[in-house]
Amino acid sequence: MTRGPTIVIFGASGDLARRKLIPALWHLAARGRLPGHFRVIGTGRTGFGQQAYREHVMDAVRAAVPDADAAQLQGFAAAFSFVRMPEGVSFHALREALSPDGQCGDCIFYLAVPPSLYSGIAAGLAELGMMDEKDGYRRLIVEKPFGYDLDSAVALQDALLSCCREDQIYRIDHYLGKETVQNILAFRFSNALFESVWNRNYIDWVEITAAEELGVGKRGGYYDTAGALRDMVQNHMMQLLALVAMEPPVNLNPESLRNETQKVFQSLRPFERASLADPVPSVHEACGPGRPACIRGRYRGYLDEAGIAPGSTTETWVGARIFIDNWRWGGVPFVVRTGKKMPVRVTEIVVHFKRTPHILFRNSASPQVSNSLIIRIQPDEGLLLTLGLKSPGSGFGLQQIPLHFHYRELEGTPLSEAYERLILDCINGDPSLFIRGDAVLACWRFVQPVLDAWTGGESPLAEYAPGSWGPELGDLLLPPGEHWREPCRVLSEDGVCHL
Ligand code: BG6
Repeated sequence: MTRGPTIVIFGASGDLARRKLIPALWHLAARGRLPGHFRVIGTGRTGFGQQAYREHVMDAVRAAVPDADAAQLQGFAAAFSFVRMPEGVSFHALREALSPDGQCGDCIFYLAVPPSLYSGIAAGLAELGMMDEKDGYRRLIVEKPFGYDLDSAVALQDALLSCCREDQIYRIDHYLGKETVQNILAFRFSNALFESVWNRNYIDWVEITAAEELGVGKRGGYYDTAGALRDMVQNHMMQLLALVAMEPPVNLNPESLRNETQKVFQSLRPFERASLADPVPSVHEACGPGRPACIRGRYRGYLDEAGIAPGSTTETWVGARIFIDNWRWGGVPFVVRTGKKMPVRVTEIVVHFKRTPHILFRNSASPQVSNSLIIRIQPDEGLLLTLGLKSPGSGFGLQQIPLHFHYRELEGTPLSEAYERLILDCINGDPSLFIRGDAVLACWRFVQPVLDAWTGGESPLAEYAPGSWGPELGDLLLPPGEHWREPCRVLSEDGVCHL
């Protein structure tokens, strides 16, 4: 078999490597998707002996795939080795391990470590020539968060670019690895039916929700320094918004796609400072120009969670009303919300179409019908379109009827984990589903005024009850008379959830 890539995981004993990366590599190997004889070198400050590391790898696979075949697992773990790199020690040991015969071949460096270590690792690799592509490619996978704010993201970008080229950097946003997120592109650009109405003339507003049932759990220490805006909005929510709003790319080349998302980010209307201030005075003029554009909330009990600083003002819920100032979307609000400790874990996009210009069916018993398209990212992945149809019987009573499609009903391959797709794309040199440097900076530029306003204490933290949909103030973000959808776990259930 030919020589395959070497994947070096920095942070090999960490949570990400154990829960996501090792299982993803296992699935790829089991399906024969990894090219040639691949090797994985785990590195960490504190160490494992070789055998202990292989046991760790096997445990990680068994935790994710309890019925993994024992013999296959032994073979898989044999491809892993460990290099200990205590703090302050140079990268020579890693270089030795990489090229015992003087040839590294293709190599991916996966930074599954705290962001504060990214630039130091990149510098260490570059210093010993490990980013040079003399005998194979060299790629750097960088996890989010890419920076803490605009300034730190710019500094990180500069630091990485002093060690390698932009096209060697693969910035992860694991949402882009989700099959259903990629399906937004397939759905939009393979159905002429929808593309022709996908604009301000037919779409009233767009609602994007990423709700989580869990609280901060054991990640309090990290989360308290980030908050929902940095953790979810600056990255995952912005990517979802871009895929819904982008123009058709000329082809599926990585740069064509990424150019189109970047154009969306360039068209985002900057938040006005006044719209980020204390929303309470605006309650009575909820329809007026003084409406807030971004609201933060925190679930009751957050301060008692492990790892949270006393007096912390970190938000666990964010809602924002965003406008995209271009020809397609002028005037259409995109209302996004994300939060922890909400009633259900659900991520979905609801495209609300405009009502008919004239209401013909005024029967008071009929609901006011409008079409909406729900793109369900998770769980119960699928699509749902609501239509107004005639209720059987005399007269012209209307009913709102859902047409739905669920991925689980498709035969064939189950939806694969985001990390499988992303690791494979990196191996194949396809950066389409990774974030380009200019896009990360554009997203930081967009949220920075909100961070500034919050740091300046201009906007209060609205408290919400755990298990609710967020602070009541969040309603101020919606177009007048509209309501947030309250989704169920099962896509086709509405109002009353059975799970
Ligand atoms: C991560 C955030 O990027 O995404 C977490 O750091 C969040 O706080 C997670 O829970 C959500 O991802 P998913 O795939 O479960 O929706």
